[in-house]
Amino acid sequence: MSEFMIESHGPFETWTINGEAKRNALSRAMVTELAANVARVSGADRSVRAVVVRGAGTKAFCAGADLKERATMTPDEVRAFLSLMRQTFRALELSDCVFIAFVNGAAFGGGTELSLCCDVRVISAEAEMGLTEVKLGIIPGAGGTQRLPRLVGKGVAKELILTGRRVAADEAVRLGLASRIGTQEDAQGLAKVICQNAPIAVALAKHAIDEGAHLDLDAALSVEQQKYAQTIGTEDRIEGLKAFAEKRPPVYRGR
Ligand code: COA
Repeated sequence: MSEFMIESHGPFETWTINGEAKRNALSRAMVTELAANVARVSGADRSVRAVVVRGAGTKAFCAGADLKERATMTPDEVRAFLSLMRQTFRALELSDCVFIAFVNGAAFGGGTELSLCCDVRVISAEAEMGLTEVKLGIIPGAGGTQRLPRLVGKGVAKELILTGRRVAADEAVRLGLASRIGTQEDAQGLAKVICQNAPIAVALAKHAIDEGAHLDLDAALSVEQQKYAQTIGTEDRIEGLKAFAEKRPPVYRGR
């Protein structure tokens, strides 16, 4: 059985974490397959420009690490698994492909961490998020202690991580943990709109935001300048100007 169900919608895909019976908890096999899929869409063939990630069923996006598998692991195996998760999540974040998490149910621990390395989070009205690890005697180990404060600020991140509190969808949006409450169609609609834009520009804008976010303003503006410079020689930039002049939608080729 495949750990992810993959549907193609032309320029974007929907990846469904395929483990409804265990609330889509992440096993080693799942993270290994996730890594392979991230590598596939980040390779030389850039035909997949965006991915919507969701969980199977209606109860959970992802209930975090597979705690039943975890109970069978030696300490060394736990360390290796966490390292695989960290590398996989980082590869996803560094990809030119845009990742949209559709948090369609509970997202706890590694589930919230997976959503945090996506570029956009859409949460369904009944879903909850939380970094609940301290309740289990561990800490977030796949980037949560670093990505959550960068997203919502140190104070809110400390409150959420130190309490391990579960946050309902409306509060998640209010805190900036998710950008909006919506349906799968809304998440896929965002992917569609993103894929209509110039591919090189979208990737460069994503990296400019990520790379600049924690630099001082002068260094960050210089990151923006470098990324902008890379759009100047592209055919897509000329096409954007031409389409504007000819009052027609642009046809971008990612060149
Ligand atoms: N790892 C392995 N199995 C898990 C799991 C996890 N992280 N989370 C849930 N499951 C399993 C349950 O053990 C149960 O299995 P069983 O049918 O063999 O007993 C099954 O999934 C359904 O779980 P249940 O709690 O009955 O479903 P629910 O829909 O009422 O609640 C959750 C779903 C996600 C809210 C709840 O399962 C939960 O809180 N899980 C723990 C999440 C967590 O603490 N994650 C942090 C990991 S660091």
